[in-house]
Amino acid sequence: MAERIFGIGIIGAGRISGAHARAAGEAGSTRLVMASEVDDKRAHEFEAKWHVPVVSDYLEVLNNPEVDIVSLTLPHWLHEPIGIAAAQAGKHIFVEKPMADSIDECDRMIAAARANGVKLFTGHTEQFLAPNVKARQMIASGEVGLPVLATDCWYKAFGVAARPPWFLDRSKGGGMWLMNGAHMIDRLTYLMGDRVVSVKAMVQTRFHAIQADDTALAYLEFANGTGATIAHTGYKDHAGAGVDQPGGEIVITCTEAQLKIVDRNRLFRSVPGDRGGAWEEVVVDRVDTTTAELRALVSNIVNNEPETVSVEQARHIVDVMTACEMSSQTGREVRIND
Ligand SMILES: NC(=O)c1ccc[n+]([C@@H]2O[C@H](COP(=O)([O-])OP(=O)(O)OC[C@H]3O[C@@H](n4cnc5c(N)ncnc54)[C@H](O)[C@@H]3O)[C@@H](O)[C@H]2O)c1
Repeated sequence: MAERIFGIGIIGAGRISGAHARAAGEAGSTRLVMASEVDDKRAHEFEAKWHVPVVSDYLEVLNNPEVDIVSLTLPHWLHEPIGIAAAQAGKHIFVEKPMADSIDECDRMIAAARANGVKLFTGHTEQFLAPNVKARQMIASGEVGLPVLATDCWYKAFGVAARPPWFLDRSKGGGMWLMNGAHMIDRLTYLMGDRVVSVKAMVQTRFHAIQADDTALAYLEFANGTGATIAHTGYKDHAGAGVDQPGGEIVITCTEAQLKIVDRNRLFRSVPGDRGGAWEEVVVDRVDTTTAELRALVSNIVNNEPETVSVEQARHIVDVMTACEMSSQTGREVRIND
């Protein structure tokens, strides 16, 4: 029997949309059918590059019978309404992270997906990055002992002039915390293999006159009693204000060794050295994460199995992010009971 080819429709032809278009061409059993974009210039650029029609009304994507899966590469505040519309149209959903801006929105999206029998796959890239996958294997196998604590630091320029208006407004899902905190919470929960039960955090606006955060410091306590810290900034854009890291640096201290992941592409482990220890690189292959995510989603559909990135995990990340914001507002520890 011929292999089924899944038609992909992309809604939102902005910064990350090219990764989804490329994945549609490379995943093997998918093809890009069309896209939707409200900005004329971006629509024309996408059409010229990817050679598919780009319409302004996303309902045309949802009504196209050739589209089986929609990639929602949209501002965060549109994930929920367009995600629910996609579920009601019977389309499987590949939504960029975070699933939504609040757990109430996540719950409504999950309910719509379940009611309509479609997959709801959140693009939590960190779970597909080769250094993270290898580090997780090393921890899960016991090779480096049990995780004790982790630190995750990611400093970069905010790039305020190049940011779209929604990104400067928390009510639209803007700010560095929802954009990058989502990655940091995802990779820490993935690497530690555990859920967060409590947070104490500051999520603040220190560098810019905007209605969204640019600075975060958080302490996460995991269910098994281990902990992790997150430090993240989108510092000012001027020479010398800071040093940009493409993906930050995570150190996981386990009972038998330390692991370090740098800029999302290099993994190191501690080995014996002159003064106690030294870093040795663990070589890993590069992976096109969006293609890997799309392949996983297709496999989930074909095999009628739960999403590889579970809706519970994607919702948990939103729960932790918003708990950190609440902790910052109240000055108190916030417990998570999801
Ligand atoms: N996985 C990663 O590493 C990664 C990296 C960047 C962004 N992202 C995620 O991708 C998503 C999009 O981020 P971005 O940086 O590409 O944003 P963006 O603002 O560059 O792109 C969003 C696009 O959606 C369009 N849009 C808005 N309303 C629309 C509508 N009703 N119909 C059709 N198009 C509409 C906008 O005009 C814009 O072009 C976010 O969830 C973000 O967190 C993920």
